[in-house]
Amino acid sequence: MLKGIAGRTAVVTGGAGGIGSATCRRLHAEGANVVAVDLDVAGLQELANQLGERLITVVADVTDEADTERFFAAAVAQFGAVDMFHANAGVESRVVPVMALDVADLDKVMRVNVRSAFLGAAAAVRQMATQADGGKIVFTASIAGLKGDAGVSVYTASKHAVIGLARALAKETAAQGIRVNVVAPGPVETRMMRPLEDGLGALAGTDGAGLQAILKTVIPMGRYAEADEIAATTAWLLSDEVPYMHGEVVTVGGGLYP
Ligand SMILES: NC(=O)c1ccc[n+]([C@@H]2O[C@H](COP(=O)([O-])OP(=O)(O)OC[C@H]3O[C@@H](n4cnc5c(N)ncnc54)[C@H](O)[C@@H]3O)[C@@H](O)[C@H]2O)c1
Repeated sequence: MLKGIAGRTAVVTGGAGGIGSATCRRLHAEGANVVAVDLDVAGLQELANQLGERLITVVADVTDEADTERFFAAAVAQFGAVDMFHANAGVESRVVPVMALDVADLDKVMRVNVRSAFLGAAAAVRQMATQADGGKIVFTASIAGLKGDAGVSVYTASKHAVIGLARALAKETAAQGIRVNVVAPGPVETRMMRPLEDGLGALAGTDGAGLQAILKTVIPMGRYAEADEIAATTAWLLSDEVPYMHGEVVTVGGGLYP
């Protein structure tokens, strides 16, 4: 068991998705109370069926300020505190070169990936600052937050922004006992990879399956991560096992980065 998770309360956004639901399951297995937040009603219900007690689900839009206040308030009302926050909800961008920019896609991705991270961070810190033992925040960025690849400038810029937010926030919150870190995965076997494979495949003159095969030759470990492997790193960062890790960006990429 990881130190400092049992009996504490975690809020996980994108909690119905691949990585978010894996984090919910892992933290729950470590004994945490879990608040899973998502727009995906059916996905949240499935998680609730799996985990039962010590889990509540909140249907909310993480890009909305009032919704964000509402899911933090629900966590405090149900469990009395928010000790851990996994700011994880996110969307992929369309795969297009900058010269073919889709402005609607740009606005959507920035709202979901960046605006939501700011809103969630602000609400989390306001709550954690009232708690004697502070709290921990982990953002899900991506290896795309540390490097650039053709066709995915919008997603790349959004994840660079998340890392920038986390680095600045870490400087603000250290004195309040609020640790802030980032998990930056390479490709993970979730829904999100399918449209990216299709789009990047089209750029490379192949299809989604062909692109996946190419990617797996580029990843030194020769495979995508499982969502549970990202959840394990997130849980570790949210635990009391690593009290001096603060403002760090932890890549989980099977050797892909650097
Ligand atoms: N899958 C990968 O290869 C990969 C790699 C690196 C980083 N990431 C990041 O991991 C995070 C989780 O992605 P995933 O792979 O689990 O994908 P996913 O699509 O399975 O999960 C994303 C979840 O976010 C939810 N969501 C989207 N917009 C929302 C909104 N406005 N309000 C509330 N919930 C919303 C979706 O409903 C979904 O359940 C994302 O931030 C993604 O960018 C994924």
